[in-house]
Amino acid sequence: MLVSARSFDEYRAMFALTDRDLEQRILDCPAGAASFVAGAGRRGVDAVAVDRQYAHHREELGLLVERETGFKRDLLAEETAGCVWSWYADVDDLVAQWIANAREFRADIGARPDRYVAGSLPELPFGDDAFDLVISSHLLFAYGNRLDEEFHRAALLELARVARREVRLFPLVVYDTGVRYPRLAALRRELAALGVPSRVERVAYEFRPGNDEMLVLSSDGYRAPERPPRSVAAEDRVRWRHREGPAGP
Ligand SMILES: C[S@@+](CC[C@H](N)C(=O)[O-])C[C@H]1O[C@@H](n2cnc3c(N)ncnc32)[C@H](O)[C@@H]1O
Repeated sequence: MLVSARSFDEYRAMFALTDRDLEQRILDCPAGAASFVAGAGRRGVDAVAVDRQYAHHREELGLLVERETGFKRDLLAEETAGCVWSWYADVDDLVAQWIANAREFRADIGARPDRYVAGSLPELPFGDDAFDLVISSHLLFAYGNRLDEEFHRAALLELARVARREVRLFPLVVYDTGVRYPRLAALRRELAALGVPSRVERVAYEFRPGNDEMLVLSSDGYRAPERPPRSVAAEDRVRWRHREGPAGP
């Protein structure tokens, strides 16, 4: 899996984030080396990143993505032939943007480590409704031929559990096949039966042709089944810092 490094503005377009959305507490899952949380921090937006790689690689992840993106320029050129070149001018621009975003990520994870939490779907280290809005890009559905349906079901419910209001996911198309995730409709019916209705919305962002839709889960009515207590220390620490301000102990 190529770890990508998309930007705050790209996330804004992919998830149709309004100024009002950005007033909420947001979780980016999985964030990889994206600079959404860094950009959010600069704008005073309360956002947290989670990714399973943060358990092992933190600042180095940014460095790795910087190097890997540069090394893989020719492979990326091959993989992205036929893409819609409106966000990025061309493959060299994509490489330059990802490297810049990975650098921004690296600086922010060093400066604000509590904003970057190690965690792995389908079980996140956060309490129920810990965030207002959860955004999730380029894992679920995109890797739909490598991650099975059970993983998707469990991960979607986990994202709904930690989101007080909404979960937004992008894209809905499987990378390797270029077609919409085949079990999407069935999964949406199952989620609706469990109290998580959803809708598909077109967004003003398209890179891979046809990938211009997000799935929005309404999680406000969802109550997750009781489970054994989990560690929520990381989430509590971030929340506390947010409430008390960065000068707190
Ligand atoms: C293609 S990257 C997408 C990163 C970011 N959302 C973006 O759009 O730039 C996929 C990320 O998913 C993370 N990942 C894969 N499986 C995961 C899991 N089960 N739980 C949490 N993160 C996972 C990987 O570590 C990687 O950083």
